Amino acid sequence: ERYAVIMAGGKGERFWPLSTSQHPKQLLSLVGKRPFLAQAVERLEGLVPPERVWVVTNRDLVDATRAAVPEVPAEQIVGEPMGRDTAAAVACGGALIKARDPDGVFCILTADHVIGDLPLFRSTLRGAMDLAAGEDLLLTIGIEPSEPSTGFGYIEAGEPYAEREGVSFHRAARFVEKPDRATAGEYCASGRYCWNSGMFVWSVPALQRAFDEYRPQLSGLMDELSAAAEAGTLDEAMARTYPELEKISIDYALMEKASNIVMARGTFAWDDVGSWPAVRNHWAADEAGNTVQGTCETLDGGGNIVYSPDRLTALIGMEDTVVVQAEGVTLVCPRDRAQDVKKLVGKLREKQ
Ligand code: GDD
Ligand code: MG
Repeated sequence: ERYAVIMAGGKGERFWPLSTSQHPKQLLSLVGKRPFLAQAVERLEGLVPPERVWVVTNRDLVDATRAAVPEVPAEQIVGEPMGRDTAAAVACGGALIKARDPDGVFCILTADHVIGDLPLFRSTLRGAMDLAAGEDLLLTIGIEPSEPSTGFGYIEAGEPYAEREGVSFHRAARFVEKPDRATAGEYCASGRYCWNSGMFVWSVPALQRAFDEYRPQLSGLMDELSAAAEAGTLDEAMARTYPELEKISIDYALMEKASNIVMARGTFAWDDVGSWPAVRNHWAADEAGNTVQGTCETLDGGGNIVYSPDRLTALIGMEDTVVVQAEGVTLVCPRDRAQDVKKLVGKLREKQ
């Protein structure tokens, strides 16, 4: 059978002040009517029904997450006692699938991306799941890069491997997590590299074999948590095991190391929407190029991004500025500084 695990452990820094640790990005409805996470579940229609979806989030977010995706069975929304990065979340998800179906094939999805061309997305995932069912492979969904972003991992396409559902799959010649700007530029110019979308597909046995080889601690975690899930003692087992786990992402733990990686060349629209300026691509703009959600009056100027649902924001002669009014906070910053919202949140946290 096919299953899905959605990693939803976001810290809620990028869309501050709207997002907070109690209300992180995946629970926001910034693009589309439902929260990002709910759209991630909906997107699987016809491929993996909600009854076969698991969500791994932080323990503090379990209730809010259950409310956001009522179609996913409540006991399949699991809370980690603390964030140990994505390798642990993948091992935990793998354990939950293993408890249900030791030979199951599952996709690992992120909770907070915007994806278009859904039929194409689904055929890419379906093709990957077909391949993963028969072979000892780690599949990753690549995306044709549109700019030399340093926020993504890059995968070099090697030998063609297979053609499924009209999608080409290549051996991954190389995986490089978040290269510097110059390297990313070379990768984009070469035409051989794709972005790593952070979506993966594998079978329970293939994942366990990879952990055995590169991160035995996480293979042990899979065994322990799957036994606990069967015994109904998952929370206790997680509370016991998590503090000891090393913080490492699945990209560094497995993808940079393993040799049995196959990449799908995904051609569907995909956007990480990693900061306020990124919503520009999803909200309508006025003639002056202002993108507004809520109410805003402008006199001269343009290129501003305004989120102001509860009150009027008024701008005179402002250019390329982000203004966010949410949760009793006003944020104002130049568009090209929006990445630094995370720094400011860190500074505020220190003061608390
Ligand atoms: N449950 C859980 N626990 N989820 C987590 C944790 C954790 O400790 N840490 C991160 N996540 C979730 C995030 O909520 C997100 O949905 C996903 O896992 C990816 O984590 P990010 O923190 O957003 O990773 P990234 O953006 O730095 O990099 C990854 O994604 C890129 C694509 O967006 C990498 O896979 C890159 O290679 C990739 O290009
Ligand atoms: Mg991310």
